[in-house]
Amino acid sequence: KNRDDLAGKKVLITAGPTREAFDPVRYLTNRSSGRMGYALAENAAERGAEVMLVSGPVAIEAPPKADLYPVESAAEMYDRVMELKERADIIIMCAAVADYAPANCAVHKMKKQESMTVELVKTKDILAELGREKKAFLAGFAAETQNLEQYAKDKLVRKNLDMIIANDVSAPEIGFDSSYNAVSIYKKNGETLHLPKDTKRKLAEKILTEIRNSI
Ligand code: PMT
Repeated sequence: KNRDDLAGKKVLITAGPTREAFDPVRYLTNRSSGRMGYALAENAAERGAEVMLVSGPVAIEAPPKADLYPVESAAEMYDRVMELKERADIIIMCAAVADYAPANCAVHKMKKQESMTVELVKTKDILAELGREKKAFLAGFAAETQNLEQYAKDKLVRKNLDMIIANDVSAPEIGFDSSYNAVSIYKKNGETLHLPKDTKRKLAEKILTEIRNSI
């Protein structure tokens, strides 16, 4: 089933968290395990696509058939995606990119103090940048803890996407760092699809089928 239906397609997928350092030994990050993005990469490769997987630091193995581009920070992910985007027919931004990074990174390990303040500045929005001069089919994710549908649809329009895949990251046993998820897909043409709780592998297959049928 679905065998080779993505043959000849080049798919760029981002996955995992980013790490934003504020001294040589400390960083800010989030709970992304990379599983959702890696499941997409694995399924796309199984279906014959050429897969470029840009990944933040994760503890899981990359699918052997994908070309892995490891990155650490949001800025590094931005640079790598901008370099690879020209080659892609389909781009799926599944990474949990940090929205803020420390304004400065100390050269030496910071000494202990009674309290400290780390100034954060906004990172560049990779997905919004891709939407500005859109050439590939562009799918984003929306990680929300409330108003899932409205916030996801706002991102679909604001970032000029073809599709957004929304997940409720406050629900127990799905979302971040789980083998399971449940998603709602909102398409540019107004179509909506709700995919109930299932393994990330199964959901990845269904998401890619939706993308396949939309291009
Ligand atoms: O990795 P897992 O443990 O398997 O968990 C999967 C997941 C919950 C991380 C995944 O399903 C998911 O929701 N990924 C998107 C997380 C996220 O950053 O969502 P967001 O709503 O904050 O961002 C919206 C979109 O903008 C995302 O496609 C994100 O990749 C993109 N973005 C965000 C910030 C930024 N600076 N640049 C971006 O491109």
